[in-house]
Amino acid sequence: MPPKHTRPQLVWSEKYTRPHTAPRTLVEQRALSHQATDDRPDAPRENLLIQGDNLLALEALEPQYAARIKCVFIDPPYNTGQTFEHYDDDVAHARWLSMMRDRLVVLHRLLAEDGSIWITIDDHEAHYLKVLADEVFGRANFIGTVVWEKADSPRMDAQFLSSRHDFVLVYSKNREHASFNPLPVTELPKHYNRRDDNGRAYYLKPLRAMGGQGETRAARPNLYFSMTAPDGTEVYPKRQDGTDGAWRWSREKVARESARIEWTRSRGRGWSPNYRIYAKTNQTRPPESIWFHTDVGSNRTSKAEVKRVLPDAAPFGTPKPEALLQRILHIATDPGDLVLDSFAGSGTTGAVAHKMGRRWILVELGAHCLTHTHPRMVRVVDGEDPGGISAAVDWRGGGGFRFFHLAPSASRSEPTGS
Ligand SMILES: C[S@@+](CC[C@H](N)C(=O)[O-])C[C@H]1O[C@@H](n2cnc3c(N)ncnc32)[C@H](O)[C@@H]1O
Repeated sequence: MPPKHTRPQLVWSEKYTRPHTAPRTLVEQRALSHQATDDRPDAPRENLLIQGDNLLALEALEPQYAARIKCVFIDPPYNTGQTFEHYDDDVAHARWLSMMRDRLVVLHRLLAEDGSIWITIDDHEAHYLKVLADEVFGRANFIGTVVWEKADSPRMDAQFLSSRHDFVLVYSKNREHASFNPLPVTELPKHYNRRDDNGRAYYLKPLRAMGGQGETRAARPNLYFSMTAPDGTEVYPKRQDGTDGAWRWSREKVARESARIEWTRSRGRGWSPNYRIYAKTNQTRPPESIWFHTDVGSNRTSKAEVKRVLPDAAPFGTPKPEALLQRILHIATDPGDLVLDSFAGSGTTGAVAHKMGRRWILVELGAHCLTHTHPRMVRVVDGEDPGGISAAVDWRGGGGFRFFHLAPSASRSEPTGS
């Protein structure tokens, strides 16, 4: 029976019919675990690749991992109506909503209080998913939507609009406790157009005060004094109309910061002092809500990455680029944090988390868990994946992981302890 609600919400047939799943256990398949006995102190203790349905797997993980996952990234089937080589992406709308709701509810319980969940989606279900996720995570915990530029060129056969983007919906478990890492500023704004002898970027700003009440001698008499130009002439601050102006700096600051002062000469005005504004070397910026393929890769990039790491496997149709995951994990996690992807596909999230020193749990249902996800993670561990973000993070291999499948609840093998 639908409960009485005061808040607006999504309703669909079967919404109030929940599956009754018998509890399942995770059983290690040691032959497929890889370097998992590595007991060096810096080795990750807790990387799990699980083959099976993710609802059952998430429920099996819950006793040990409830409120411990720092970042969930999921890239579920978008319900595009297509059949991909490795999975079917065409289910009834209501069934898709139930499928997502059941999994989001458990993912919510697995998330740590300071954790976040990132969900990729496109126009087919994005707006329904937003309302559904509001219900599970709470509207107040919605952080925002990232628009990822997934395509680098238009599809010439598009009937109306050539879709260039996917969405990434971002929720915190608890907005009060969430904190995101800023991004490093790698590109300087164009106006930092000069370099000093040490190669540090800066731009020049006139030392004469301009604009506002403080630009006149009358207003700031102590900032009216002469400065000596490179040719020995004494220069006073003069306004455009020739009347007496003021410097921005006091005599004391001019003496103290003389290394930052640089003189320029123009025909009409003669010598003018300027001061250098240096670019901060460790500048950061908050992540913005549009992510371009030139920064985080496109669908073309990701297909090439999987082809490179798995040259003998059938091409995987819908991977995500490693740089996209790198940005998400940089923002949402710190080294050592636990990352979970329960729609693992070719294993991009695991590969990136591993190379970035995060611990990870992947769940994949399809047979490609054995033909793609598993061999990809083996190559990452063995340092045989030179593509993706490997060069950027100087990845050379290391660590290990354990492989599990789902079995009926009788025999229980705890994934790990930490
Ligand atoms: C869009 S793909 C994910 C691709 C992945 N992000 C990557 O970079 O390769 C979605 C994946 O979810 C898997 N999947 C669908 N339903 C599932 C379920 N109930 N349990 C586990 N995996 C499932 C599919 O087999 C498919 O591999």
